[in-house]
Amino acid sequence: MLGSGAAGLSAALACAPRATTGLSVGVSAEDGSSHWAQGGIAAALGDNDSPALHAADTLQAGGYRNDQYAVQRLCEGAAEAISRLLAGGAEFDRPEQGNALALGREAAHSRARIVHAHGDATGAELMRTLQRQAVAAKHLQLLGSRWAFELAQDAAGRVVGDWVEGPDGVELWQAAAVIMATGGYAGLYRCTTNPVTSDGSGMAMARLAGAVLKDLEFVQFHPTALDLDSSGVSARLPLVTEALRGAGGHLLDADGCRFMLNQHPAAELAPRDLVARAVWRARHSTGRVFLDARATVGKAFPQRFPTVFAACREAGMDPRSEPIPVTPAAHYCMGGIQVDEHGASSVEGLYAVGEVAASGVHGANRLASNSLLEGLVFGHELGRYLAGIDLPVHERTRPARRQPQPLPDRLRAELSRVLWADASLIRDGQSLERAAVGIESMLAAVDDATSGRDLLLLAAAAVAAMQARPASWGAHFRADAVVTA
Ligand code: FAD
Ligand code: SIN
Repeated sequence: MLGSGAAGLSAALACAPRATTGLSVGVSAEDGSSHWAQGGIAAALGDNDSPALHAADTLQAGGYRNDQYAVQRLCEGAAEAISRLLAGGAEFDRPEQGNALALGREAAHSRARIVHAHGDATGAELMRTLQRQAVAAKHLQLLGSRWAFELAQDAAGRVVGDWVEGPDGVELWQAAAVIMATGGYAGLYRCTTNPVTSDGSGMAMARLAGAVLKDLEFVQFHPTALDLDSSGVSARLPLVTEALRGAGGHLLDADGCRFMLNQHPAAELAPRDLVARAVWRARHSTGRVFLDARATVGKAFPQRFPTVFAACREAGMDPRSEPIPVTPAAHYCMGGIQVDEHGASSVEGLYAVGEVAASGVHGANRLASNSLLEGLVFGHELGRYLAGIDLPVHERTRPARRQPQPLPDRLRAELSRVLWADASLIRDGQSLERAAVGIESMLAAVDDATSGRDLLLLAAAAVAAMQARPASWGAHFRADAVVTA
């Protein structure tokens, strides 16, 4: 298994008793997105809620481009996923009265159904729980400091392991099946909420191995990252969780106008893509946008939203007494390695789960807090599936085609600039053409045999998908789900 985030660990744990090895770039949970998740995990646990209502919200947010069966499995699997975590010792927040779980509200959810931990530190609690279980699991070995750069294939093209750069140089890890769980590529954008490892390397490796990728054009931009970007330096921007808007926070432009009121009946709780574009426009027309939670959260900030509070304090501001400057930032990839209901890709021996996979569950636009859930539910399903089938013994592996050479820093910075400027939430035919030409010229500057080249090819494929997208709109696709303003 490649990648030890929520999806990878869920899959690996469920593979028991099949011996499983998990390899990941970093040695701590912080190198994947899962650790950083704030808002929570969606689950229809409330009295007035049901998996069917959760599914209806998921489909609506996704512009009805979702795979309906995947949505049904996701929403119906949520309660059990939460129970598994509770049994594993997860400490989710509970109201002061009673023993039920506290359920928060987020954009485009028709019910309060967001399970969360320590206010806005859900990802850290989730990863602590899964890692504790992983350490105790006898069938599972987790190894960090191993950066995969190519899938190993036999002469027939079947995936039989992976080539990894580790502490002792390049290593070949052979396996009866490989689970790709390496996360998305939103970290390639200049303004991003993602860690640097979310660079799409898993999708790039799968692409090189011949796997079908799909829906690469559907990149989600979060409306509210902390606006620290005035220096123009590429950096991960701390997230200002949507749960703050769920708790009554208002978006204001630089003139103090609450601009979401005339954009959508749900105002700040409109679907994420719509709010993100409105923030972008208000930021460009008035200079800055702020999230004001002084009246609604105020003094309770350190207890209710400790992660956002700490990020604000580090940036020299106090959200209890001043509004928080925010900007949209690349956040999540709906597309990735095309998988079937068992998590199998189009290449034999290769499975994918979590953000790296395109199961179709999110359609064109993911509903908030459905991603951790996806990793938990589909990861568990995939592990159980692999534990129950016969896997072939692998044959001779053909040599690696790539050298483990990342994209040079200069080109990675240039790529992140190009993607943000021309292929982000406001884009059109001309800007996408500029992006395509820019990536083409970067490709000319890298050696064909290096793994860094694969990231450029992935970015080129995403831009090409964005260019082609209008032709692929379904009849029910809500035109404002991802389209340019
Ligand atoms: P990740 O958690 O990103 O893990 C990827 C793993 O792959 C890491 O272990 C990494 O080391 C490894 N890896 C990557 N490349 C390689 C390689 N080449 N070789 C070896 N290993 C590799 N979703 C929600 O549902 N609720 C939320 O509240 C929420 N909040 C979020 C807040 C932030 C700031 C961010 C960034 C995302 C948030 N999301 C949220 C989205 C969600 O966190 C991610 O989509 C999800 O965690 C992805 O999980 P994953 O296991 O697929 O990948
Ligand atoms: C957030 O807390 O705003 C992020 C939730 C998500 O990405 O699902």
